[in-house]
Amino acid sequence: MGDGLKVFHIVGARPNFMKVAPVMSALKSRKHVVQILVHTGQHYDANMSDVFFEQLGVPAPDVNLAVGSASHARQTAEIMTRFEPVLLEHRPDVVLVYGDVNSTVATALVCAKLGVHVGHVEAGLRSFDRTMPEEVNRLVTDQLADWLFTPSEDGDINLQREGIATEKVFRVGNVMIDSLVKLLPAAERMNRTGFPERYALVTLHRPANVDEGAGLKRILLSLLEVSQDLSVVFPAHPRTRKRIADFGLHAGQLQIVDPLSYLEFLGLQSHATVVITDSGGVQEETTYLGVPCLTLRENTERPITVSLGTNILVGRDPDKLRCELSRILAGKAKKGTVPPLWDGRAGERIAATLAG
Ligand code: UD1
Repeated sequence: MGDGLKVFHIVGARPNFMKVAPVMSALKSRKHVVQILVHTGQHYDANMSDVFFEQLGVPAPDVNLAVGSASHARQTAEIMTRFEPVLLEHRPDVVLVYGDVNSTVATALVCAKLGVHVGHVEAGLRSFDRTMPEEVNRLVTDQLADWLFTPSEDGDINLQREGIATEKVFRVGNVMIDSLVKLLPAAERMNRTGFPERYALVTLHRPANVDEGAGLKRILLSLLEVSQDLSVVFPAHPRTRKRIADFGLHAGQLQIVDPLSYLEFLGLQSHATVVITDSGGVQEETTYLGVPCLTLRENTERPITVSLGTNILVGRDPDKLRCELSRILAGKAKKGTVPPLWDGRAGERIAATLAG
């Protein structure tokens, strides 16, 4: 693509913000590129959205669709309905969508119907588990995209298996790691007063883990057991906090706090003894940081964090969690390496591919 390129970026939910930042920043130096940022409003709380814009240096959105929360069908439909007139008004040359959230698939679908080119950043990831809403979003978005930017080789292989033409696939590396590389020094300087010296850092929000009372109770009991050996710091996603209250569960001595800003969370990750999570991005960040990560899922769409990185899937098995944790506490944590192209330059490669 050449002269006078108009690029839309779509963000909606927390993990999108650290992915869009490096791409926007890299495209900024291309004077022929005009960038328009659209926030769907899937996440709207200050601590789930605004603070990330500030810390990552992302400009205020040009358009906010303010869709808010709803069931999957309603949220997806609402994003589509509100996005269509915006797309018709601006007619961009390419729309960049990020990751695997409902905002990603909804806007990609609108573009495909109106014949507008789509670039998918973080294409090709697969958990092979279609009960996971994000897996459906990934599969559909990749089928619709014209440019598929993958973070690692497994992404390319998955896309090839699904019949996607190799000319459309560009292995650029991991944009989330771009933001980490840039902001780690500032994160290291963040004040950690009020947090213990040694701790397990926990995040939990997957519907499969938190939406059912008995399952969530089992996880909390496992974490309470962890807290006998190590303090547990648990910045809770609003969805998780609500479920804990709805089910009347007790968090005992777990240090449950509100969702943290990017810098606070990154600072806590980099100093954690272990991270226990069901997030996708956190599996990647811990791999880069070389911090042990125990993932409370049976599968991952980011297998490279297991094959090369520090990640171990413990599923929902408390014995496995206990066993891996004692290995870490005994100083025998799995050692990992940083995957190829996770080097802080993925955004620049995307910009070079799209805009020369
Ligand atoms: C979404 C993404 C998930 C991503 C996660 C990161 C989909 C399908 N899922 O999940 O991939 O890992 O974001 O956070 O897109 N809520 C608030 N305030 C907010 C946002 C949400 O209170 O600012 C609450 C609402 O009660 C809402 C619930 O969280 O119903 C779920 O929000 P939603 O965006 O639907 O999904 P997430 O679970 O956040």
